[in-house]
Amino acid sequence: MAKMAASMVGSGEDAFRKIFKFYKRRNPPPDLSDVLDFSKAVPSDTVVLAELDPAAVSDVEAARVGLKPVRDWRAFGLQGYPGFIFISNPFLLGCQPFWVRQCLKTYPQKPNICNLDMHMSPSDTEDIWGKSIHALSCPPSGKREPQTLLEKLRWVTLGYHYNWDTKMYSANHYTPFPADLHLLSSQIAAACGFPGFKAEAGILNYYRPNSSLGIHVDESELDHSRPLLSFSFGQSAVFLLGGTVRQDPPTAMYMHSGDVMVMSGQSRLLYHAVPCIIPPPQEHTTLDMAGCSLASSLQDSTVMEQVSKQDWTVCSRYIQSSRVNMTVRQVLGPGQSLPETPACHERTDEDQTVGCHDRESGKRKRSSGCDSVDTIET
Ligand code: SIN
Repeated sequence: MAKMAASMVGSGEDAFRKIFKFYKRRNPPPDLSDVLDFSKAVPSDTVVLAELDPAAVSDVEAARVGLKPVRDWRAFGLQGYPGFIFISNPFLLGCQPFWVRQCLKTYPQKPNICNLDMHMSPSDTEDIWGKSIHALSCPPSGKREPQTLLEKLRWVTLGYHYNWDTKMYSANHYTPFPADLHLLSSQIAAACGFPGFKAEAGILNYYRPNSSLGIHVDESELDHSRPLLSFSFGQSAVFLLGGTVRQDPPTAMYMHSGDVMVMSGQSRLLYHAVPCIIPPPQEHTTLDMAGCSLASSLQDSTVMEQVSKQDWTVCSRYIQSSRVNMTVRQVLGPGQSLPETPACHERTDEDQTVGCHDRESGKRKRSSGCDSVDTIET
C-alpha cells in the first residue's frame, strides 16, 4: 500500500471507499503521485517482473492479433497480489486502431446487447456507428451538438450476456463470442500460463471524461480458476485493486491505452474499481494510433483488417476524450453448465436502469442512462 493511502485510513473502516472517493474528487483534483505507472520506471520494492511463457504463443500467432512477440512484453506482478499480471501495452505499433474500431463499430452491433437497448427500440439501436459518424466526423462547432448514440454508449455485452439485475449468466442468453477477440484473449491467457482459455463472455465499458466504475468483484462466472482479462484503449484511467474485504486499502495504478491486465489465482476475486479517467501523459497522446496501417508482412495471416481513414477519423475523435475497456471471461469450467432462465421481462418505459447496486456488498450497478458508466455510493 502506498504511503499516502496508509496515512488516510483508520483501522476497521471501509478503506477502499475512502480511497475511491479521494481519486474521484474533482475539485481540488487528487494528488496522483502515489499512482503506479507501469509505463515508467517501477518501484522495485512493490513491483516484480511477471513470468510469462513465451513458447505458448509463436511470434506469428501473436502478430496475427496485433501483439508483439511475448518475449518483448513488459509484464509485472505486484507484491501482495498473487495472480495479478499487468502487461504494459503489448500491442505492435499501428495495431491498436483495429481493436478500437472493433469496440466502437463492430462489437456494439446486433446480436450483441448494449445499454441503449434497454430504453430504445431494436431499429433505433441497429446501426449505432452509422447513425453517429456524420456528427463525429465533423470538427466540433462552437455550440454543443446533441450527443450521438456512440457517445451515449455505456456498455456492450458479448457471448453469455451478463444480466445486471440477477448478476447471473444464463444458458439461453447467449450469442456467438467474436472470433477475433477470442483469439486475442486466448493468446494473452496462454502466455500468462492459462492454455485453453475459452472467451465466453465479454463486457465492454465506455467511459466519458466524468465516468467512474464503482467498487465491485467479478464473481458471476462459475469457474474462478480461469483468469479475467482486461484491455484498455483511449484515455488513461486510475485503477484501484483492493483485497477480499473493503477494509483492505487498494493500490492505485494507471491504465493507459493498450495495457492489458490479468486477474487470476488469488487476485481473481479481489475488489476493484475505476474512480477517474484522465488524459494520457504527453508521450502517450500520439501513441501508435497515428500509424493505423498494418505491417504489410502481416496482411495475409492477420485476423485484423486495415482501418480506413474515415473510420479512424471517427475513432480518434471519440478516444480523444473517452476510454474503452473490454473485460473477457471464461464462464464455465469442464462439466459445468448454466441454468436456463425465463425469457427477459418486457421492457417498460420506466426501465432506465439495469442492474442494481448492492450497497452492503459493493457489487456493481449499471446505468442505461448517459451520465456515468457506473456509480458508487455517495
Ligand atoms: C471492470 O472491472 O469491469 C472494468 C475495469 C476497467 O474499466 O478497467
